[in-house]
Amino acid sequence: YLKSAPYPVPGLGLHGLPVDSLHSSMGGYPSDKLLPPNTVICGYARTEMTVNDIRTNCEQHMNVAPEETDLIGKFWEMNHYLSGQYNRKEDFGKLNSKLCRFERCGAANRLFHLALPPSIFEVVTANIRHECMSQKGWTRIIIEKPFGRDSSTFKQLSDHLAVFFTEQQIYRMDHYLGKEMVQNFIMLRFGNRIFHPSWNRDNIASVQISFKEPFGTYGRGGYFDEIGIIRDVMQNHLLQILTYVAMEKPSSYSTDEIRDEKVKVLKCIKELTMNDVVLGQYVGDPEGEGEAKYGYLDDPTVPKDSTTPTYAMVVIKIHNERWDGIPFIVKGGKALDARKAEVRIQFKDVPGDIFNGAAKRNEMIIRVQPGEALYVKLMVKTPGMSFEMDETELDLTYGNRYAGVKLPDAYERLILDAFNGSQVHFVRDDEVREAWRIFTPLLKQIEAHNVKPIPYKFGSRGPKEADQLLTKHDFVYSDTYQWPGDTSN
Ligand code: BG6
Repeated sequence: YLKSAPYPVPGLGLHGLPVDSLHSSMGGYPSDKLLPPNTVICGYARTEMTVNDIRTNCEQHMNVAPEETDLIGKFWEMNHYLSGQYNRKEDFGKLNSKLCRFERCGAANRLFHLALPPSIFEVVTANIRHECMSQKGWTRIIIEKPFGRDSSTFKQLSDHLAVFFTEQQIYRMDHYLGKEMVQNFIMLRFGNRIFHPSWNRDNIASVQISFKEPFGTYGRGGYFDEIGIIRDVMQNHLLQILTYVAMEKPSSYSTDEIRDEKVKVLKCIKELTMNDVVLGQYVGDPEGEGEAKYGYLDDPTVPKDSTTPTYAMVVIKIHNERWDGIPFIVKGGKALDARKAEVRIQFKDVPGDIFNGAAKRNEMIIRVQPGEALYVKLMVKTPGMSFEMDETELDLTYGNRYAGVKLPDAYERLILDAFNGSQVHFVRDDEVREAWRIFTPLLKQIEAHNVKPIPYKFGSRGPKEADQLLTKHDFVYSDTYQWPGDTSN
């Protein structure tokens, strides 16, 4: 629960916050001074505990600079807690009474952030609607994935929410939309003349959107086994990135114009089939260290015969004038050789080659994490007397160019957006519906046929069949170039 007054953030007008709701006298906590001073945060869960218990639990994971100790102390003073059952209306009545005590004459806004398992989602939202709505201010709810497991469970959830809340009150959070380089796509693509003429099927050979993690799911297998990598990161985070790469220019920089364009991209994608996918599951590396020795199935919380994929590559085609025929290769995996998330746009070969095949393809890479960067691979004359060619890069690494600039965590930005009423970095109902339409038939087929994923070794690049699929889709892999900024492996 967050009781907030609105406050100024540069550029907010762009996101459609009414200007008369801005005022400039915010002191606020904690260190960035973005929270209004009269904010109250109230936790609610079943466990009996105190704010001090929460503080003790959190502090072991917090990295507080000595000069911030006082601010953090003040932050904790804003915190309150109430324990109650999720299915008891009376308990939500008590929550409401507690909240009312902080508010003057009911004049306060309420923002509920629901970090809850799907099984209790419906009852909690109903209880909030009946017992805890703000009397004289706005009420908003932030919800996080999973938004259902497929098209029909999503519809059920969506219909349920629509009874209690308007679309303007619902903030569907996909935390990848809070990442610096994901937010950057609109500026990069539509604020520069230079890229635009080549951003199409005539010049681009393929687009790869990759997510790699170097650790497995050990100990969290009970959760992951129900989900699998496609539902975990592809149907949401990676598909969201794809919409930004592929969308047409919106008619203005406003929330719904942008989301309309994202939906249009999704509508141009056909339902995926088994021909479009490679699935993998990691096995232990006997020579690896620590967790790397254990495969997915060695986890006691995973059923011994589980066929849940921990790696997937899917090839997505967008049937519109700009992209027809161009593969968007989306891959995500656990227990791989690196930690990184990036978009790699590979351009076609230069027509009319005069260098006997020495020119490698240009690539533009948008590195989402770690180490935000944008670099373009290009060919130059090898410096010096030589007339050979060298593969090099134009490099915009944020850590160098914007050294010292703090890039906030995705959640920090998104919660701030929700305070401000900006939904541009939240996912609209029809976006999720389209995303499920694309993935549901594939997921059903995988489950109905109990498709066995291909084993790959912990710490490897994933199944080699995935590399074959890449080659089939006109991606040319050259092992002759290493980006100097790459510390991910
Ligand atoms: C979550 C997934 O949504 O995103 C996790 O459920 C994944 O499995 C995580 O590890 C990755 O987020 P980030 O911000 O660490 O890249």
